[in-house]
Amino acid sequence: MTVIPACDCGSYPVLLALTVYVSGCSEMNEKSPDASDTVCAACDGDAAVTAAPAIGACDTASSTRPRSVPVVPALAAQGTKKTQRRASPAIRFPIVKKSAFKPAEYNLLATAMNVREKALSTAATSLAQRRDENVARGVASTHPVWVTRASGATLWDADGRRYLDFAGGIGVLNAGHANPRVVAAIAAQAAALTHACFQVTPYEPYVRVAEELNRRAPGPSPKKTLLLSTGAEATENAVKIAREFTRRPAVVAFTHSFHGRTLLALSMTGKFAPYKQHFGPFCSEIYHAPFPHEHHGTSASQALHALDEMFASTVAPDRIAAMIVEPVLGEGGFVPAPIEFLRRLRQIADAHGIVLIADEIQTGFGRTGKLFACEHYGIEPDLTTMAKSLAGGLPLAAVVGKAPIMDAPGPGGLGGTFAGNPVACAAALAILDIMDDEFLTRARAVGARIEAQLRALQARFSAVEDVRGLGAMMAMELESGAPEVVEAARRRGLILLLAGERDVIRILVPLVVSDEELDEGFALLSASMEECCNQTR
Ligand SMILES: Cc1ncc(COP(=O)(O)O)c(C=O)c1O
Repeated sequence: MTVIPACDCGSYPVLLALTVYVSGCSEMNEKSPDASDTVCAACDGDAAVTAAPAIGACDTASSTRPRSVPVVPALAAQGTKKTQRRASPAIRFPIVKKSAFKPAEYNLLATAMNVREKALSTAATSLAQRRDENVARGVASTHPVWVTRASGATLWDADGRRYLDFAGGIGVLNAGHANPRVVAAIAAQAAALTHACFQVTPYEPYVRVAEELNRRAPGPSPKKTLLLSTGAEATENAVKIAREFTRRPAVVAFTHSFHGRTLLALSMTGKFAPYKQHFGPFCSEIYHAPFPHEHHGTSASQALHALDEMFASTVAPDRIAAMIVEPVLGEGGFVPAPIEFLRRLRQIADAHGIVLIADEIQTGFGRTGKLFACEHYGIEPDLTTMAKSLAGGLPLAAVVGKAPIMDAPGPGGLGGTFAGNPVACAAALAILDIMDDEFLTRARAVGARIEAQLRALQARFSAVEDVRGLGAMMAMELESGAPEVVEAARRRGLILLLAGERDVIRILVPLVVSDEELDEGFALLSASMEECCNQTR
């Protein structure tokens, strides 16, 4: 055993073990006279690390880096034996059983792995320190996982640890991380034109995205499209368009909704903490009506009754420019609107000349098993807002709506320097091409599998109060303890997100996830629930 000084590649002193370790670090090899005895803990994590390919363990194998066969026991810091054995594209090397080693050898290896774990967490700590010193604290991260690369439904962090991604960057990666068709489209467009500003000198990809979205948006009416960069911009612009069209001031939004963080979008958002506190005063003429949420005691008929009351007591329908509604509450806890509720909103809007805006920013692009959630409801919104999975990770958003409404603002009234960026448009065109019938059929199958898994957890754990959602937009509400479960799952190598009042765990896994990855993720979730929710049924 040797103590080796820092390696050029990553600089952590490392405890070194046995000749059975594989040398993975060329820099280390140059430095060390006996390189085969060494493990570099900091470089890309190879040697000992490749031995621990399980979820949550390191798997940074670089294809360009020569390696000898790794013969190291499965010392995954996290993950069950079962998950280690489960084949996945990330697992490239055989796991050698503990029994393959003499106890003394094994202990040395284990020690080396522990030292390495500590060295790597030092790396994360230093990033966290730099972040604390330089980044505004208002922007929080759910997980202290420093991501460096991703593919499909898998992420790798700065230490080379592998995670299953059931969050998709908050529903942005429906077509998967680094989808090759999207990557190719981005690269080709970036080489040709990265920016011009559509208001200065237009370019074709913008028009093609508009054509494609007009063709696919819910409902038969002729449509027009405005492209933007973020979801908040889309909801704000939808309101501007509705106000110009109706020449009315008021907007009705719903409780527990989320429409973005800019001030008009935030004013419409129906969830206070952590989004709204101390950020007011908010925009005037925004009125919130209850969103129906059976599990929390509000039925569709109660919600509709409250809306009628609001019209009678607070704001007359002929003062209302728009009603904005998420067909399935996203941040609010994955609550699908009852069918009679959305259909009644459509009728009310028609009766009073109100523009009905469907916010499909989280529900869109296959998440619910159809391209847009409104298709499940058989209603045509007047305007639909889109973003998130529209451009596979590049910032692109849209308002798509009935042509006469979209044309209400005069020339110059709409736009933005980066709005409809050509590279983002190229990515969106690839995404729309990917999201064909086959993709949507698979999205429904993914949704069915997620639901079955969540129901199995509900059958096992009394903490699970409710399982709900639409298509692959599924969540479970716990009595309490969801943040602890999410943290425990992350320690096992699964990235999850909360929603609602913090006790909803939502699944926003990329829809390209395999059945094996889904099952693997739910095994980790189940183990995390065992750890955090002690009562089983
Ligand atoms: C339904 C909905 N609307 C609007 C937004 C705001 O989008 P962005 O964060 O891109 O501004 C979100 C973001 O989560 C959302 O889920």
